[in-house]
Amino acid sequence: MDLHLLNDTPTDVERAAVDALLGPPGGNGSGPGHGRDQLLPALHAVNDRVGWISRGALNHICDRLSIPPAEAYGVASFYALFALRPRPPRVVHVCDDLACRARGSAQLCAALESVEASGDVMWLRSPCLGVCERAPAALAFQAGDPARTQLLAPASEKSIVDMVVSGPADGDQEPSARDSVPQAGEASLRLLRRIGAVDPESLDDYRAHGGYLALRRALEIGPAEVVRQVSEAKLTGRGGAAFPTGRKWEATAGQPAQPHYLVCNADESEPGTFKDRVVMEGDPFAVIEAMTIAGFATGCSRGYLYIRGEYPRAVRRLRNAIEQARERGLLGRSILGREEFDFDVEIRRGAGAYICGEETAIFNSIEGYRGEPRSKPPFPVEQGLFGKPTVVNNVETLINVPLILTGGGAEYARTGTADSTGTRLFCLSGNVRRPGVYEVPFGTTLRQLLDLAGGVEQDRQLRAVLLGGAAGGFVGPDQIDLPLSLEAVREAGTTLGSGVVLVFDDTADLPALLLRIAAFFRDESCGQCVPCRVGTVRQEEALQRLVRNRGDGADDLALLREVGRAMRDSSICGLGQTAWNAVESAVDRLGAFTARSPGTGGPAHVDD
Ligand SMILES: Cc1cc2nc3c(=O)[nH]c(=O)nc-3n(C[C@H](O)[C@H](O)[C@H](O)COP(=O)(O)O)c2cc1C
Ligand code: SF4
Ligand code: FES
Repeated sequence: MDLHLLNDTPTDVERAAVDALLGPPGGNGSGPGHGRDQLLPALHAVNDRVGWISRGALNHICDRLSIPPAEAYGVASFYALFALRPRPPRVVHVCDDLACRARGSAQLCAALESVEASGDVMWLRSPCLGVCERAPAALAFQAGDPARTQLLAPASEKSIVDMVVSGPADGDQEPSARDSVPQAGEASLRLLRRIGAVDPESLDDYRAHGGYLALRRALEIGPAEVVRQVSEAKLTGRGGAAFPTGRKWEATAGQPAQPHYLVCNADESEPGTFKDRVVMEGDPFAVIEAMTIAGFATGCSRGYLYIRGEYPRAVRRLRNAIEQARERGLLGRSILGREEFDFDVEIRRGAGAYICGEETAIFNSIEGYRGEPRSKPPFPVEQGLFGKPTVVNNVETLINVPLILTGGGAEYARTGTADSTGTRLFCLSGNVRRPGVYEVPFGTTLRQLLDLAGGVEQDRQLRAVLLGGAAGGFVGPDQIDLPLSLEAVREAGTTLGSGVVLVFDDTADLPALLLRIAAFFRDESCGQCVPCRVGTVRQEEALQRLVRNRGDGADDLALLREVGRAMRDSSICGLGQTAWNAVESAVDRLGAFTARSPGTGGPAHVDD
């Protein structure tokens, strides 16, 4: 096949970056696919080294991987972290999403507006960086060999200007993951019990804290019994859809097609979500052990850990955990001496696309295609990654499994409610006194959770809580006694989603928040299907008119409902299906456009 390669040639540096990843020319890109699955890592290699991807670099990648440049361009341009035009080697991403807005991101951006432009550095506004508990946040990338990154959170006007001028500092400047867990050290913790207690860089310390007992137990009882215990525990997915994990595992394990794959979904790009990051940074071996057990139970010999590109410290810690586990025979061939059990994990970094957290978009992203969701059926358990049976699970879902195996499924199911078993990680941020990741049994009320976090900061009145993130919904102070279980929130017409509890006090400007959410969905829609591609634009336009006119806006409210229904009923994937949820809840439950005072603040900011 003629690839229609370009005439452009790479620089020596670009060529070296690609060849360091793929090996010397002459070989072919390795991997379980057909080489194309190396496209995303190759794009990262060039972007990391140079700061952007030139036509020559793209052509070289295409030549090495036998991909038409037109297709590779379509892939590279899909991701927000890649640039296809020259740009400075230092890029600072300043979060101006919901939690950071509640904590002063506008002032950071204003401070940066006054910094003189230079050819060495640029800054950009970014959607949620997944560090909302330390808002406002910024992330700096400095291209080079090696590339450097620094997460600045909380950022001040001075510190962010300093970082833009001087670049990322050397070494890990971030506080311990323990600081993100206000309950750290408490006896009630299960999933978070090791955070702050264990050295996240040491396998020995992980073992000293009970690590790898569950894998030994799994090998003793066998795959079918592991799946049975997970079903008995009634574990449900924590990534958003709350699907029963045991059913998913059983369906994958029983598929005759081989091989089977495991994907750990660590994309965590739902605005307001940061629990998986804290777990991966604070207890990375637990994620690798849990993946190994899941691989054993479902007949996979290969697992991918797909992690968002904005989590550099989590990537470093996981890489270290994988290397140490390999050295000790806990990954690789014949794990713990079991001849018939081989399993290994590969990390795949995302590159700034919320949609890649959708379980089939991940497959396309890993395989080297645009991260567009696939139509279902076929379901991943039948035809997933590389067309093979695949089990996809969220990080938090997986780390429940060792607990189930060490204590037994029935014992696990005693915590929580009858239909929502176990504990749940919640991400508290916004106008709350002690933001962070909290672990409580399902069924804990919203009031109890807010009390744990110290309540609304500065003794202000609660205006609203966004449950479940942008894809979730707002609840008002009248729903503060809502039990946080799957069945109770369903009955209340809302969702726990990925565990977001984003708190807004009575100074919040609700219409401005809705505009931000609408812009997020418009930006992140992959554009594949009309209801979502067009609907998210129409939704944003109608909201902008509502904010500007301040009239009764009856026509635009009616239009919003119609567009919202069309997106919900006819979009291919969960992004379009949920893009109207938060707006609908704010209009119906909070009177976002009828009760502008008190508490809705001043005029909303509208980007012209
Ligand atoms: C737009 C979109 C984004 C998603 N992002 C994530 C994500 O970042 N992490 C995640 O675990 N699940 C995410 N999901 C849910 C996944 O599709 C899938 O349900 C989940 O990974 C399954 O794992 P679980 O059963 O353990 O929850 C997303 C879904 C949609 C529609
Ligand atoms: S609903 Fe939106 S994000 Fe999902 S496939 Fe359609 S256009 Fe893409
Ligand atoms: S890090 Fe800014 S909103 Fe999440």
